[in-house]
Amino acid sequence: MTGQVLRGRVLTFFERPEAIDDTASYGYWENGAAALRDGKIVWRGALNDLPEAYRHWTVRDHRPHLIVPGFIDTYSHFVQMGVIGAYGAKLLDWLRNYTFPEEARFADPVHAALVAGLFLDELICNGVTTAAVYASSHKVSADAFFAEALKRGLCMIAGKTLMDRNAPGDVCDTPQSGYDDSSALIAAWHGKGRLLYAVTPRFAITSSPQQLELTGALLKAYPDCYLQTHLSENDAEVAFTAELYPDEIDYLSVYQRYGLVGSRALFGHCLHLSPREISVMAESRSVAVFCPTSNMFLGSGLFNYAGLGEAGVRVSLASDVGGGTSYSMLTTAAEAYKVCQLQGLSLNPFETFYLLTLGNARALSLSHRIGTLEPGTDADLIVLDSRATPAMAARMANAASLADELFALQTLGDDRSVAATYVAGRSLKPARAV
Ligand code: GUN
Repeated sequence: MTGQVLRGRVLTFFERPEAIDDTASYGYWENGAAALRDGKIVWRGALNDLPEAYRHWTVRDHRPHLIVPGFIDTYSHFVQMGVIGAYGAKLLDWLRNYTFPEEARFADPVHAALVAGLFLDELICNGVTTAAVYASSHKVSADAFFAEALKRGLCMIAGKTLMDRNAPGDVCDTPQSGYDDSSALIAAWHGKGRLLYAVTPRFAITSSPQQLELTGALLKAYPDCYLQTHLSENDAEVAFTAELYPDEIDYLSVYQRYGLVGSRALFGHCLHLSPREISVMAESRSVAVFCPTSNMFLGSGLFNYAGLGEAGVRVSLASDVGGGTSYSMLTTAAEAYKVCQLQGLSLNPFETFYLLTLGNARALSLSHRIGTLEPGTDADLIVLDSRATPAMAARMANAASLADELFALQTLGDDRSVAATYVAGRSLKPARAV
């Protein structure tokens, strides 16, 4: 059986870089190649070392571009494509005025399928090959998303949003219907192709205690599913949660009570955590999801990247479209850098590219399948053109090192810098040089 060999400058991470000069944390081959067959990576390294058996395979020449693992976005809402960049509101008003009315449209399966396709094509255009995604509260919206992801051969995590109160009736379910719909979706999609299910209570404000109880029951019944929700994003949200759950000592204790913390739990935002909440996050191996464009856009606050890392909390990076304002993980990384700068940390570009690939794969407990170019993993790779625009080419004329190039890419790059996207070995964004 023949495969294909991608040529270019190959970069993959082995570990989190400790510092900008931690060259042991990654592999980089200037005249490199990656060999793919049957949707898997079978080899990567210096072209000169390409095994004899692969030398007659079809060559796709991407020189002088970089070949890296596909980007991973650990949190996004496909049903918010239509409200990205909605003016003038903070979280709770933004949800009420823009988001809930928009999500109500996803009761229509035709609309849901159309937007799911558009969204996934936008991800592919941006080199995002895996994402953890919220559907709306309507089962049909999750069905549509999974069906479109399956068509494209993508590794995607998603779930129907659970919400039974403090929102209009047309976006609410009930504890029982939410449980039943989630169970049916898990049976239909979890483990099908490369698809995985996330049990998705929106947040404590829109779920009654009865619904959170059944959410915990779902996770007990399906322990290899994920949990995704929001935690401590906005001051008014934290205060309202305290009113709704007066017996709990803090926001995270609501989720703890119902068995929702753990190593497969993805908590979006985590901006205003108490020391107790931080230690529970660390001890339970839960993931704090850093969403810089959203946090800045909704004026929610600054994610304490250094502090949470020092406390041993697992951290991932995400777009949070449509509170977030970009589908590009390069732009997301650029904004993460600025958020950290405001707090005295200059996040180094190797750490950023680690986060976008292996780091986010680890946060999803999927690093044995995605996020690296190790042989045996899925062939999700992207080709990055650091000179994609005249402005980038002008900047690159002064790039003296790989670190400098990566930093210029994240600062100036977007979908135009993604020259090709391979999903399980199939080129879904056309390669320039074939
Ligand atoms: N909290 C509850 N729902 C949402 C949402 O859709 N987006 C964000 N950013 N935060 C939320």
